[in-house]
Amino acid sequence: MGDLPGDIQRILITPEEIEKRVKELADQISNDYRGKRLYMVGILKGAFIFMADLTRALSIPHVVDFMALSSYGKTTQSGAVRILMDLREPIENQHVLIVEDIVDTGHTLAYLQQVLKGRSPASLRTCALVRKTRARADVTLDYLGFEIPDVWVVGYGLDFADRFRTLSYVAELKPEAYASSQK
Ligand code: PRP
Repeated sequence: MGDLPGDIQRILITPEEIEKRVKELADQISNDYRGKRLYMVGILKGAFIFMADLTRALSIPHVVDFMALSSYGKTTQSGAVRILMDLREPIENQHVLIVEDIVDTGHTLAYLQQVLKGRSPASLRTCALVRKTRARADVTLDYLGFEIPDVWVVGYGLDFADRFRTLSYVAELKPEAYASSQK
């Protein structure tokens, strides 16, 4: 893949592996929701690239919507999450699929699942591209792309201080690149 950017330690998931897995997930989702209209909820910012590829590979009717959430203190146990931007429409009686780029601690998803469940959707499932091994065990995923180690990952939507989102692969960031970060 040629020279990697200086802050990148190693590639964890190649563009080819991502493309293949996204297609598999889209096929599985299309089969599971056959005959239904799907309400896809992408979580900004990180999920925008995964969402774009996943939705274009679906073969069933669907609408796309987005939410933006902010989490505090990844390194703490607080898990406090705030909605920065909400959905455009009510989701009552809709078949909702949350699309996340990463489940790290799992706090964001735990909060979101609880909030959206309270809006009485016909069904609520979750799809994530990657999940770290340290993620909370009580947060369930219906569709998962890849299990990854507990390292800082960037690329394919994932960032470090808003950098590296547009890399075509998922990579591990060098520890020295984020050593001083409090995120
Ligand atoms: C990331 C990611 C998830 C969340 C997961 O968002 O997109 O929403 O973290 O972390 P958790 O499992 O520990 O709660 P981030 O806060 O980095 O914002 P961004 O997507 O806008 O970069």
